[in-house]
Amino acid sequence: MADNGLILVTGAAGQLGAVGRTVTGLLLDRGLPVRAMVRREDDRAAALRAAGAEVVVGDLLEPADVARVVRGCRRVYFGMSVSAGYLEATVIMAAVARDVGVDALVNMSQMTVSQMSLQHTTPSPQQRQHWLSEQALAWSGLPVVTIRPTVFLEGFFLPLTGPSVRDRSRIELPFGRGKTNPVAAADVARVVAAVLADSGPHLGRIYELTGPRSQDMHAVAREFSDALHREVTYADISPEEWERELNRAGLPEHLTGHLVTMGELHRADRYDRQADGVERVTGRPPMSVWEFVSLHAEEFGGRRS
Ligand SMILES: NC(=O)c1ccc[n+]([C@@H]2O[C@H](COP(=O)([O-])OP(=O)(O)OC[C@H]3O[C@@H](n4cnc5c(N)ncnc54)[C@H](OP(=O)(O)O)[C@@H]3O)[C@@H](O)[C@H]2O)c1
Repeated sequence: MADNGLILVTGAAGQLGAVGRTVTGLLLDRGLPVRAMVRREDDRAAALRAAGAEVVVGDLLEPADVARVVRGCRRVYFGMSVSAGYLEATVIMAAVARDVGVDALVNMSQMTVSQMSLQHTTPSPQQRQHWLSEQALAWSGLPVVTIRPTVFLEGFFLPLTGPSVRDRSRIELPFGRGKTNPVAAADVARVVAAVLADSGPHLGRIYELTGPRSQDMHAVAREFSDALHREVTYADISPEEWERELNRAGLPEHLTGHLVTMGELHRADRYDRQADGVERVTGRPPMSVWEFVSLHAEEFGGRRS
């Protein structure tokens, strides 16, 4: 049974995957009260307020801010941008959640953590921080639900392949013949919202989330072609070329290091994954690449009639 206690959603303004923003909307649609935490007052904060959320401004790296926003909430979604302070923010959230005594903490992680151990980490600073964050939350004794999605369609494929598909009808990534099974952040948000709405049965669980099909990038390009009614091909660029492009884009070092590792792991076929978390939690199958590209056709340069 869903109860009506206040739910805190962090990272609610949304930027890339915008899981927090979508979760806020889904919970409000269910008639549940939401406190949406944002970093600053802007149009996105105003839109959340207009949708019916209580909007609070704060910094997840500032313990006093986190204590102020968590106090009064029964359940929490914790997620923020891929960034250097992720582990610190997680431990601050754990300390506060213990002090407040929340009923559920839904933690955004990554599916790569499923393959990590003391002997096997990865060079990605973000993946290492998620791995350590999960351990710190386990030690905390908090009622945690862990969400481990694979690569996002919104937060990875849209920004990183959108421009080349738009300009050259080409997906340019250093994935070699590696398979991948990206998941829509919209589906990830549906899982998080379902867990927050009725957290009891999910406490202590780990949900791995993928799309419906693991395939190589040539097959992914065929789904793009079918959705856009024009030929989209896959170009396997070298890891060095990709790293140069990411550096040219001026991204923070932490994010570039993470994306370079994602490229290497794809090339080594470590993203060949299949998990049923989306359907198990929401009762609906995950979105395919074809469905996603159809929905976002304009951002990929439009569909030929
Ligand atoms: N992208 C992928 O392929 C992928 C795959 C699996 C898992 N994940 C995980 O998904 C999470 C990211 O989710 P997402 O894409 O939904 O996030 P997102 O859209 O990038 O939104 C994150 C939000 O966090 C806010 N934020 C950042 N630093 C903050 C701070 N210090 N205090 C308060 N708020 C802060 C940002 O605010 P501003 O917008 O104001 O900066 C932003 O709105 C990460 O844990 C990542 O590891 C991502």
